[in-house]
Amino acid sequence: MSKSFNETDCQILEEILRLRRDVRGNYFTDEPVSKALISHLIKAALYAPSVGYSQPWQFVVIRNESVKQQVYQSFKQANAVGSSLFLGDKKRDYKALKLEGILEAPVNIAIFYKPSKTPVLGQTSMKDMGRFSVVCAIQNLWLMARALNIGVGWVSIVDAQQVKQAVNADEDAELIGYLCIGYVKEFLDEPELKQKGWAEQKNSQDVVFFDSFPR
Ligand SMILES: Cc1cc2nc3c(=O)[nH]c(=O)nc-3n(C[C@H](O)[C@H](O)[C@H](O)COP(=O)(O)O)c2cc1C
Repeated sequence: MSKSFNETDCQILEEILRLRRDVRGNYFTDEPVSKALISHLIKAALYAPSVGYSQPWQFVVIRNESVKQQVYQSFKQANAVGSSLFLGDKKRDYKALKLEGILEAPVNIAIFYKPSKTPVLGQTSMKDMGRFSVVCAIQNLWLMARALNIGVGWVSIVDAQQVKQAVNADEDAELIGYLCIGYVKEFLDEPELKQKGWAEQKNSQDVVFFDSFPR
């Protein structure tokens, strides 16, 4: 018989969704993260839906300081370019933000999309569906981490090619996400970028439409 969930289950899930946070280096502690815990997170990722059940993901668990350093150097370069794109107050605010936790987090995980060499059911028209499946896996991992009170921070300000080189990835593997993982001092109740006034929360009226977009 299929399992039915009750209202309490639903409330707990909603709390996990609401209180999941992106965690940066200033919130990680150096408490070690066990292999069993990482396996638990990856197990959650592997429950994710994937187009044509292709499971097109690969995970590289990184603890090695030299690999982390290479990724950190890539972040520094990419972040200098990133901050140069913002002007005035935005540039000042950007520079004040901590946008990664590569060295502070005891574990990093690089997650790749490994394209199939043969046609994938469901991916014959919309070619990005494999990549989106990998994002579903990342979200699963992120939510399970929150349920285990483990922080996750997604770092996208890197050169994907440099990260690939650092972990010796196959030519055709595509970096989808780079995660910093560890125990935290605290989880914020709201997104840090909201709290700091970088961006406002959008209302559902502004993003949800019925039947067609209003013109
Ligand atoms: C695809 C993706 C890439 C992201 N890249 C970065 C990043 O490079 N650096 C960073 O500090 N946060 C990054 N974030 C985290 C977002 O800034 C964060 O999710 C958002 O501000 C909402 O906050 P919350 O996750 O705590 O709810 C990324 C998030 C996503 C989904």
